[in-house]
Amino acid sequence: MQLIRMFSVLFLAIGGLACGQPLVHDEHEVVVRDSVKLKIAPGPSDPQIQFAPLPSAVDSVAIDPTLGYFVGNLGGGVYWVTDGSYNNMFMVSTHGVIVVDAPPTIGHKLLYAIGNTTRLPVTHLVYSHLHADHIGGASLFNASHPTIIAHAETRNRLATLSPLDPLRPLPNVTFEGDYTVSVGNQTLELSYHGPNHTPGNLFMYAPAQRVAVLVDVIFPGWAPFTELGVADFVPGLIAAHDVLLTFDFDVFVAGHVAQLGTKHDVLQQKKYIEDLRDSCASALNGDMTDAIGPTVAANPGNVWATPKALFRVAAQICADNTTSRWLGVLGAVDVFAFENAYRMVNSLLIEYDVPGPFSVA
Ligand SMILES: *[C@@H]1O[C@H](CO)[C@@H](O)[C@H](O)[C@H]1NC(C)=O
Ligand SMILES: *[C@@H]1O[C@H](CO)[C@@H](O)[C@H](O)[C@H]1NC(C)=O
Ligand SMILES: *[C@@H]1O[C@H](CO)[C@@H](O)[C@H](O)[C@H]1NC(C)=O
Ligand SMILES: *[C@@H]1O[C@H](CO)[C@@H](O)[C@H](O)[C@H]1NC(C)=O
Ligand SMILES: *[C@@H]1O[C@H](CO)[C@@H](O)[C@H](O)[C@H]1NC(C)=O
Ligand SMILES: [Zn+2]
Repeated sequence: MQLIRMFSVLFLAIGGLACGQPLVHDEHEVVVRDSVKLKIAPGPSDPQIQFAPLPSAVDSVAIDPTLGYFVGNLGGGVYWVTDGSYNNMFMVSTHGVIVVDAPPTIGHKLLYAIGNTTRLPVTHLVYSHLHADHIGGASLFNASHPTIIAHAETRNRLATLSPLDPLRPLPNVTFEGDYTVSVGNQTLELSYHGPNHTPGNLFMYAPAQRVAVLVDVIFPGWAPFTELGVADFVPGLIAAHDVLLTFDFDVFVAGHVAQLGTKHDVLQQKKYIEDLRDSCASALNGDMTDAIGPTVAANPGNVWATPKALFRVAAQICADNTTSRWLGVLGAVDVFAFENAYRMVNSLLIEYDVPGPFSVA
């Protein structure tokens, strides 16, 4: 529980920084007519909330509670590690170990997972993207002085932090387009296809093992984490599904949820997120005058009150609409239904230019 709490606090903190759109979770601020029957997202005042049962698409690996982590062998010297919430990957080569990400919640357990697999040192560390919840354990590898590799956008952002984060040392190697990590007998292909979850978020592919890695974009078997995984650029996030499908992989390692994915999971989430987009566009284009009327009337001169009510009403209509089709298909669709719809509503307004009530006057 503590872990889950930490995990969401981190994501929210980072989300606030990344999108500049902090979500407010108190539920009684939108004044709506009873007929609209809004079920505003559950907040701290509703701690006993019981979400829908998890469907069979959720297939988490069993984690030995005394160890607190699980290591899965993907063949050809590739391993994935999970603590239940966070995942990462490492590759054992003839010359040393390549590690992809170092989530702080896995932390020292990642050193144990590697240490129980090989005696070779970690020589290379790849940052999938800049977020601390995926690479904030990087300095645990300081002692073996790995070559840290990341996209230039990742380095640029880490370099602007003042002070620099000692837990996320600046990368030694950066690149703009593609980069191949070759160590001993192992090859990991890194490629960049524009901003999605964040600028600099990498597609990673191990051709010999047919394993693909993409963090915080696809959540196999589950609905996306809050605010579409705290997405920086939603159009890029949606496009990333198609980009991932161009890779020739059998196994997909995601940054979250204790299960691996396949192309089926990518297609499934693509359908979900496109449905969410269409439903939110439909909500924005609908008539919300009655639903927001009382808020407008109660707050004369307050220019933030109307958009606040509009965003929340549109997001709730969209969430209810989409959830009805996806409950029982993806795990926990209901948990972040509002937050995901809220992020989509804002994306439609300013990234896609589906202006709804804000169209050209
Ligand atoms: C590379 O070498 C490691 C260590 O000997 C071995 O475990 C792995 O299977 C090899 N992988 C490939 C793709 O040759
Ligand atoms: C192997 O794993 C155990 C339990 O996680 C840990 O205590 C031990 O230090 C690990 N060994 C190495 C060499 O990392
Ligand atoms: C990478 O940079 C760090 C400092 O950020 C340094 O400690 C480490 O030795 C460097 N690694 C290599 C292989 O140059
Ligand atoms: C790891 O190395 C970085 C860069 O040299 C340094 O800033 C940081 O303090 C070190 N962290 C630890 C835990 O040793
Ligand atoms: C639900 O969304 C679909 C598009 O996905 C739309 O056609 C339909 O009108 C929406 N229904 C409501 C009640 O908003
Ligand atoms: Zn992230």
